[in-house]
Amino acid sequence: MRFYILTLFPEMVRECLLTSILGRAAEKGILSFEAVNIRDYTRDKHKKVDDYPYGGGAGMLMQAQPVYDAWLSVVDRIGYRARTVYLTPQGYPFTQPMAKEFAQEDALIFLCGHYEGIDERVLEEIVTDYVSIGDYVLTGGELPAMVIADAVSRMVPGVLSNQESGSAESFEGNLLEYPQYSRPEEWHGKRVPPILLSGNHRKVDEWRREQSILRTKERRPDLLKKAVLTEKEKREHTYG
Ligand code: ADE
Repeated sequence: MRFYILTLFPEMVRECLLTSILGRAAEKGILSFEAVNIRDYTRDKHKKVDDYPYGGGAGMLMQAQPVYDAWLSVVDRIGYRARTVYLTPQGYPFTQPMAKEFAQEDALIFLCGHYEGIDERVLEEIVTDYVSIGDYVLTGGELPAMVIADAVSRMVPGVLSNQESGSAESFEGNLLEYPQYSRPEEWHGKRVPPILLSGNHRKVDEWRREQSILRTKERRPDLLKKAVLTEKEKREHTYG
């Protein structure tokens, strides 16, 4: 899977995406990341990429031309108009199902805005998906692009060494993951829950399922409403 990130700050993106698990997958050739500097495509003799908004208001806007030409150069190389994701607080909220859906693509283009945003006309021509990573405002789209690239990458087969780790984790079935413990058996006077030392896998699974439900009920009651629970679980956890 190929990721192209259109940005004014390519070095910010390069460093991050070539580290750790994504870096390893890139070395293996499963993923590739390319940060494209929008400023390289300006036709302005002072390399300017922004200007004042018509109608007035605070701040500057990224102009249509350099964004469009940077995008065209990428589309030319990919060979088709790949899905183009614009990171904006005005987008659809990003979720795990979206990560899985994006992971089906052969190529994805991320468009990172800065300043007060981007001229609407170029967005209308190139953007297929408007995506937000949460209800807060960041200084640019780079961090959101990296968040999404990370979440999508780990859904691409072969990126995680153990495909298992993609199944029993938070958001599967709309439940948060259960708590986990490693050695030593006692730390700061706290003992590992005895059931985890019992060797009884059925009991361990039951305990983990219960913990997932309790944790979701406490921290994300909105998610619990969407979780698929047995009748018994519903009786025990949802009313009361
Ligand atoms: N750009 C600035 N804030 C953002 C957010 N919350 N999500 C996506 N892109 C953004």
